[in-house]
Amino acid sequence: MTATSMRTHMCGELGSSDAGTRVRLCGWVSRRRDHGEHLAFVDLRDHSGITQCVVDGSVDVRSEWVISVEGTVRARPEGTVNAELATGEIEVVDCIVEVLGHAEPPPFPVDDRAETDESVRLRYRYVDIRRPRMQRNLRLRARVVEALRSAMVRQGFCEVETPLLWTPTPEGAREFTVPSRLHHGSFYVLPQSPQIAKQLLMVGGTDRYFQIARCLRDEDLRADRQFEFTQLDIEASFVSQEDIQGAITEAVADATEAAVGESPGEAERITWHDAMDRYGSDKPDLRFAMELLDIGQVFAGTSVRAFDAPCVKALLVRGGASLGRNRLDALVDRAKELGGKGLAWFKVTSTDPAAVDSPLDKFLGDAERAGLVSGTGAAEGDLVLVVADIWHTVCRVLGALRLDLGRPPITEGGRRFCWVTDFPLFDGVDDAGRPQAAHHPFTMPHPDDIDRLTSDPLSVRSQAYDLVLNGWELGSGSIRIHREDIQRQVFDALGISSGEAESRFGFLLGAFRYGAPPHGGFAVGIDRLVALLAGEGNIREVIAFPKTQSGTDPMTGAPKPVAETVLRDLGLRPIPKPG
Ligand code: AMO
Repeated sequence: MTATSMRTHMCGELGSSDAGTRVRLCGWVSRRRDHGEHLAFVDLRDHSGITQCVVDGSVDVRSEWVISVEGTVRARPEGTVNAELATGEIEVVDCIVEVLGHAEPPPFPVDDRAETDESVRLRYRYVDIRRPRMQRNLRLRARVVEALRSAMVRQGFCEVETPLLWTPTPEGAREFTVPSRLHHGSFYVLPQSPQIAKQLLMVGGTDRYFQIARCLRDEDLRADRQFEFTQLDIEASFVSQEDIQGAITEAVADATEAAVGESPGEAERITWHDAMDRYGSDKPDLRFAMELLDIGQVFAGTSVRAFDAPCVKALLVRGGASLGRNRLDALVDRAKELGGKGLAWFKVTSTDPAAVDSPLDKFLGDAERAGLVSGTGAAEGDLVLVVADIWHTVCRVLGALRLDLGRPPITEGGRRFCWVTDFPLFDGVDDAGRPQAAHHPFTMPHPDDIDRLTSDPLSVRSQAYDLVLNGWELGSGSIRIHREDIQRQVFDALGISSGEAESRFGFLLGAFRYGAPPHGGFAVGIDRLVALLAGEGNIREVIAFPKTQSGTDPMTGAPKPVAETVLRDLGLRPIPKPG
């Protein structure tokens, strides 16, 4: 609906074919330019764009006032056409202006070019979202959600809403807790995802569920994390992981098409092990190569102490020999911060015979020097970075350095979707030596590895998979355990006793005793998907009212204290925060 009882057109839609038409527009005064006493140009803005209105100089309208303008469209005189504006061929003349709302001077220019501090933008978010960039992002988001929803409906998924007042779920994030007024001392928990509810829907025979689900997690905020975010959450029965991945691939392809007008290429597939081994990350950014290179052979039986380790890998930095000492020292410090013992660097000064410039050069044998150069394919002027340690540490450190040194800006390099599969079931052990669930404890082990659940749990792969785009984890999912015997084995490996399992997730385990179909699902983080499609590096840019990095809302002042009486009703007494 563009025409309403108050307006005939939007500010961004008039063109030369409308010349001669009497129109009525509504919007905000974007700019006013006075030309002498009797003539003023008013740029009128709504979300669709800007139209220039020629008004009498006595008309009192100022920046960001809300007005309506009735006038006649005419082609702009020769030489005044503005090619940068969609409506730049016309203007509206013979105007009758009505002021619909006055405005104080805006706290910052409503203009994409203005650099405004984010806390000021968020304090006056209602002004900020008048800017074309924010309007573009919010509308792109709406198209993405619409495309996701219709793709799921088309594929036979049924939209179901699940409760926000819920109970703890075992997914690892800290949860927001809501005190009960009717049951003092008892609490609801806001769902970090509809995980358990959707599994119960499968036991309930829903077969194919989806939801555009609000999720809440009380975790540290970052560029890709907010307390509140939205998932395309799905679950289906009698499916394999390929079925789930196929349904999500289709929905995400439609969303990409709807957002940017082009379909994504085929998503690549890579196992978790290969992603770690080649890119040093379980969310590899495939827009650039710079793979980690295994040079263990070169240093087998080496006398260089630093390289006498189970795994030795290198990163080739093309042209990196020009990096100065300060930059190299910073890379070494970064490697240590990341948990490495150190980082060796070699500037390749010649390939024939192999020669390097490095503090370690004097410890290298000729064969090692030659192997280092040929094993990495280095040319003169390149830099080779080497980390030796256990496999996991080597991959983690070099994977982070790969991103630091090679990652293209967010808007460059295209869109490279990839499915990462075969995640380990457990990721490491806790202080008591007990394996920790990598995803959640209902993730089905890989069928080939189930018999190692007790004997070698850390080697067991799971049927869990992630969708990754340009180095961002867009979503994850898994096939779930629906058999009590396998669930028991996994709880045993996690050190969760039957009593603990009953008290934490008894209602789910109970439901499974009433006929659970094999099932699996997935959740796509919509904020992340939209941010990447909009070319934004922070999800706050695609959320209407986000929280700041420290979890506050400068506009409403939340979180804030509540009245004593509210606390009393809830049976709560505040305890001052220590320190
Ligand atoms: P997971 O916890 O991996 O899986 O979340 C799925 C996706 O949700 C997005 N996401 C977030 N986005 C913004 N801010 C956050 N704080 C945040 N946390 C997560 C990410 C992430 O990939 N129930 C399972 C899914 C399943 O197994 O079906 C789940 O929630 O894009």
